[in-house]
Amino acid sequence: MDFKDELNKYIEVINKELNKYIVTSECPENVLNESKRYSLLAGGKRLRPILLMTSYLLFREDVERCYKYAVAIEMVHTFSLIHDDLPGIDNDDYRRGKLTNHKKYNEATAILAGDSLLNEAYRIIISDIKSTDDTIEKNRKIDALYELSHGIDRMIAGEYVDTEYEGKEISGEYLEYMHENKTGALIKAPVKMGAILAGAEQGDINKLEEYAEKIGLAFQIKDDILSEIGDQEVLGKPVGNDRERGKCTYVTKYGLDNAKKMLDDITEEAINIIKNYNKNSEFLIELALYIKNRNK
Ligand code: IPE
Ligand code: IPE
Ligand code: MG
Ligand code: MG
Repeated sequence: MDFKDELNKYIEVINKELNKYIVTSECPENVLNESKRYSLLAGGKRLRPILLMTSYLLFREDVERCYKYAVAIEMVHTFSLIHDDLPGIDNDDYRRGKLTNHKKYNEATAILAGDSLLNEAYRIIISDIKSTDDTIEKNRKIDALYELSHGIDRMIAGEYVDTEYEGKEISGEYLEYMHENKTGALIKAPVKMGAILAGAEQGDINKLEEYAEKIGLAFQIKDDILSEIGDQEVLGKPVGNDRERGKCTYVTKYGLDNAKKMLDDITEEAINIIKNYNKNSEFLIELALYIKNRNK
């Protein structure tokens, strides 16, 4: 199957699954629920759930068994975006081609919508664990939940470093640390979760982890590049905002051409790790290239 068709097929699946959650109905917190749906279903590349599903598919075919975890990771990601856009963090007005949550609703709603999506993710996974009788399966699910919680912890640490060092020059080492955490952690988590849920061997999980670390860094370097030279209409979020806020990025630190070269090199490294790995890894190779070449 053509990569783009396959990607769209996964996006359709995840959108359909997401749509089953956060059903709005008349209640005092109805607007809060609406705002959660608004951000969750606003579009988005759905990269993290796709990584979870395709990592699972390297080892097992019954992918529907990991849908709840795919939904949960996208909820967590959406929470991170809602909070990242808040006035106290990046203060951005547009996300996924629409007004940011706090612009569409208000700041209190956006803070609570983020908190609530984060909690919902845990609730979905914990209720799945509770209803699993098989001990091996149950333990895998607990391990996957741990990976998620660890990824969230690292993402928050990265976001802190990002805000704390705004307007300041930081070392290349700190910059890489920031990227690995704020973005890399929630890219690595779904790759590991998919493999863990499928019962992969530790050696396989380690290999995938290495691949995920590379594409995670590549993803944020590309985000830095698009923040400089992207097309706002296509991107669905502001361009030039990193520079305006005095953020240290791969582009401000190394220059555009060097940032592109680093992106090329890291993508190649990611592909070399996964190449010849497993007959189902073709999609993950294409995905690394998609991350490098994307314009949104
Ligand atoms: C944006 O993530 C935030 C970063 C971690 C760089 P995405 O570019 O995956 O955002 P959506 O989900 O497609 O909107
Ligand atoms: C976002 O980083 C990372 C998280 C949301 C955790 P950025 O602030 O660089 O991403 P965009 O450009 O707003 O999507
Ligand atoms: Mg930010
Ligand atoms: Mg931001």
